[in-house]
Amino acid sequence: MITERSKQDILEAAKIEEVVGEFVALKRRGSNMVGLCPFHPEKTPSFAVSPSKNLFKCFGCGKAGDSVTFLMEHEHLSFPEALRYLAGKFGVEIEEKEWSPEELEIRQLNESLYLVNDFALNYFQEQLFETDRGKSVGMSYFKQRGFREDLIRKFGLGFAPDTTDGLTREASQKGYSLEHLQQLGLTSEHGRDFFRNRVMFTIHNQSGKAVGFAGRILSQDKNSPKYINSPESDIYHKSKVLYGMFFAQRPIRKEDECILVEGYTDVLSLHQGGVENVVASSGTSLTVEQIRLIKRFTPNLKVVYDGDAAGRKAALRGSDLALEQDLNVRVVLLPDGEDPDSYLRNVGPEAFTGYLKENAQDFILFKTSSLLEEAGHDPIRRTSVAKDVLSSVARIPDALKRAMYVKECARLLDMEEASLHSELNKQIRSGLQKKLKDQPGGGKGTAVSDLPFESEIERQENRRPEAPEDDFCELDIARVLITFGDQVFDEADKESIAGFVVRNIEDVFDSIEQNLFRKIVQLTMERVKDKLPVNPFFFIHHEDQEVQKLAVDLLQSPYEISPGWTDRFEVYPKLPEENFFDDALSTVYRLKFKVIRKVIRENHEEMKNISNPEEVSIRLKMHMELKEKASWLAEKLGTVVPPKF
Ligand code: CTP
Ligand code: MN
Repeated sequence: MITERSKQDILEAAKIEEVVGEFVALKRRGSNMVGLCPFHPEKTPSFAVSPSKNLFKCFGCGKAGDSVTFLMEHEHLSFPEALRYLAGKFGVEIEEKEWSPEELEIRQLNESLYLVNDFALNYFQEQLFETDRGKSVGMSYFKQRGFREDLIRKFGLGFAPDTTDGLTREASQKGYSLEHLQQLGLTSEHGRDFFRNRVMFTIHNQSGKAVGFAGRILSQDKNSPKYINSPESDIYHKSKVLYGMFFAQRPIRKEDECILVEGYTDVLSLHQGGVENVVASSGTSLTVEQIRLIKRFTPNLKVVYDGDAAGRKAALRGSDLALEQDLNVRVVLLPDGEDPDSYLRNVGPEAFTGYLKENAQDFILFKTSSLLEEAGHDPIRRTSVAKDVLSSVARIPDALKRAMYVKECARLLDMEEASLHSELNKQIRSGLQKKLKDQPGGGKGTAVSDLPFESEIERQENRRPEAPEDDFCELDIARVLITFGDQVFDEADKESIAGFVVRNIEDVFDSIEQNLFRKIVQLTMERVKDKLPVNPFFFIHHEDQEVQKLAVDLLQSPYEISPGWTDRFEVYPKLPEENFFDDALSTVYRLKFKVIRKVIRENHEEMKNISNPEEVSIRLKMHMELKEKASWLAEKLGTVVPPKF
């Protein structure tokens, strides 16, 4: 535990511009520094760092905070990890708090447990690399499976010899306690080694520490289990660990996808073949904690399982939870009789990645066709297939996505869409009831908007069915352009507010519905292009009477911060130029939000009329992308104060 005082010291010593500067190229601009925001895609810098305030803020996406926040968000560090990183970087000595006797005990125990596992890891590696038996049995086994030495060392593979208590005795001699060896499952209650005559796999936690081991049998003996695994212990919580995650985290983030396989050897082979964004669930079905762990790095999960019946079953089992956690789940089945390890070795890394790309199937569609195949033409069994598939669909948080699947499933199952819908709703209701019951307080007082099956966008839509801003946002664009279009938006590039606005709404220009406002935007675009000022004078004296009148109306009721704002929105009056900036930005966002919602609705309508699966999947993908943009904007709009008009 780091003391409060230490935290303060670290935060004070940490220079935000140096911390951020390691990840973002910053340029000085006045008293601040600016760069391209690492949290959202952009072409012109809206990410500002203030050395004097020791804070960062992105005016595009609204992310803001100090050095610790930055590291937690950008590097996915935990709070203490971020503090330790900063302490190291800025040379602050960390003062650890006085531990309570209980805390101290747990900490000391855990540390000693890690040390014992480190010892065991060394022991297994020594046996593998340095003993005759290890070399002739263990190493030749790994070699025959095609594992290179660098991989063997990196992943901590080893060998447990066939001795009664070789490890236990050596550990005891070195002073490791028997109790610890037993808690870690390395030594049996009778004092014998647990892993004997097996090749060993080390299981690392998130930070690369050895928390457990798995031993694979070498013989074909059907009477003993192929793998034996370390038991749960104070440092090994199986539901929270994914095999290979320590080595996969960066690659997963880079590929924006996590590949999930079944076995240790699959992870190893893929990793060696250059597919490094891979983890294994180790023979058990996925847990919520494991899924959340994946979600820290990517929303995209690709489940790659054996093509046989068992593989299919396992793929089906793991995926429902992932859907519920809003991961995009795709499934790849390998040719019958192959697992990822064998298949990669057969065809080579390139063909393997090609196969994954070509054969990834949407999980729900995969589930439907798999179950259908089993059910054949039996109508009763087909009905239960429908129920089963819909139970998966019901878990998906996004309503439009659910509707899409119903449509597709109706086609595959050759059933009425309407009856599937009613079954789906039944399942959702019972799912909701269950969730509510499970909640503390039995779900009493839960607002409709808190219900789990509603996405952010639907909430937005439910809250304001008529969304009054929709009617105003076109007028608002005109207001911004006419009343302060000539203000400077970007000090360095000397870009005007007008320039900024038209550049950013160019793509939605055609969607502006009201002629007058289109005209204002059109006029502004021409002025900006010709490098002429876009100021009130220009509009007030414009030859078009409509334009003139609008300008006069707008300018007669000047827009200003009402004193009530401070209380109503918890914002403090800003400098005029800062206010222009926020005002223009939120106006642009609102117009875009309106247009995107319209496109989503239209896309949805389109989807009702198509049945070609190719096209459906394109539309679905489009839908997902639009939704992503819309929720990004919705989030922004929550952080930008709407201007009062
Ligand atoms: N598993 C286990 N205990 C067993 C069998 C399997 O823990 N008795 C887990 C292991 O994590 C194993 C995974 O389930 O990696 C998949 O099992 P399997 O496909 O049988 O093993 P492989 O990893 O493919 O091993 P190999 O290629 O050596 O047969
Ligand atoms: Mn295998």
